[in-house]
Amino acid sequence: MKAVVCDRYGPPDVLFLQDIARPVPKPDEVRIKVHATTVNRSDCGYRQGAPPYARLFTGLIRPRRKILGSELAGEVESVGSAVTEFKVGDQVFGINAWKFGAHAQFLCMRESAPLAPMPAGLSFPEAAAVCDGVILALMCLRPADVRKGRSILIYGASGSIGTAAVQLSRYFGADVTAVCNAKNLETVRSLGADQVIDYTQEDFTQNGQTYDVIFDAVGKHSFRRCQGSLNQGGIYLATDQLQNLVLALWTSRIGDKKVVFPVPPRYTKQDVMFLKQLIEAGQYRAVIDRYFPLKDVIEATRYVETEQKTGNVVLTVG
Ligand SMILES: NC(=O)c1ccc[n+]([C@@H]2O[C@H](COP(=O)([O-])OP(=O)(O)OC[C@H]3O[C@@H](n4cnc5c(N)ncnc54)[C@H](OP(=O)(O)O)[C@@H]3O)[C@@H](O)[C@H]2O)c1
Repeated sequence: MKAVVCDRYGPPDVLFLQDIARPVPKPDEVRIKVHATTVNRSDCGYRQGAPPYARLFTGLIRPRRKILGSELAGEVESVGSAVTEFKVGDQVFGINAWKFGAHAQFLCMRESAPLAPMPAGLSFPEAAAVCDGVILALMCLRPADVRKGRSILIYGASGSIGTAAVQLSRYFGADVTAVCNAKNLETVRSLGADQVIDYTQEDFTQNGQTYDVIFDAVGKHSFRRCQGSLNQGGIYLATDQLQNLVLALWTSRIGDKKVVFPVPPRYTKQDVMFLKQLIEAGQYRAVIDRYFPLKDVIEATRYVETEQKTGNVVLTVG
């Protein structure tokens, strides 16, 4: 089968397409013919070997996982002897977080992994582009008690996590203010934001408005600058930057306003099933910026690393 191999850390050019043997499913695994996958920020971080301390887990000298790609949609092509939940021909979507392997024509996943039948009516590219952003956003939103009667500001609302956070916060009934660049205002409004702010025209920390929750969905803001825009008892949700771990510990004991940085992320089948229901109920849609064929993975990766994508970048796999 064709697969994109990453056998050393470095820029996107270290990736190359190679013919390798198909993986063989263990008794509790299914082998999936991948129709679509994505390039996301986790793939990029893993390939860069960044931040450096992450190499303790990803491989000190060389990446432990040689095929990247965590999100996928495809068709079950073969099942292990103990598999009961899936059968050959089932269309599935999910995320193989930490193990990766989806930048290939086939991958194996345990049936108990975050994998579920594809939502009815969705295409493979749409189904591939939903799990990572949604699960990361859910992981942050849950401890912040986002619901009707509460207000949330989402900074970086146009990214993968941001577009998910807007839709989920809206679904949970909160009053949603989304902050993004002018070019993304309409997209973000169409996802259900009640108010939108163009960060190139207005600094939300200076307009006098306050919120119960501020979600920095793109890792570019800071608790220090947001504090004055949080209500008493307010929560700052972080997705990046090591200092937020320290702040999360500190503010859990001291002060009225809290930093929440839920790491490491937990990806569960339950959340993929929740997402399937949401999509089928018309409450969630994938935001896809660009499509690339698998062979153009370097170009796709370079684009993701501009940090300018709107939503998600899909790789189609033949
Ligand atoms: N906690 C975890 O386990 C975990 C896992 C994966 C990723 N992450 C982190 O989560 C963050 C978001 O990931 P993502 O995949 O959602 O990002 P993404 O999709 O790459 O975000 C891109 C979006 O961010 C916007 N943006 C870029 N710079 C901005 C700025 N200074 N202010 C406001 N918006 C800005 C861009 O639009 P414009 O530039 O046009 O405004 C673009 O739409 C990243 O820091 C990533 O490292 C965390």
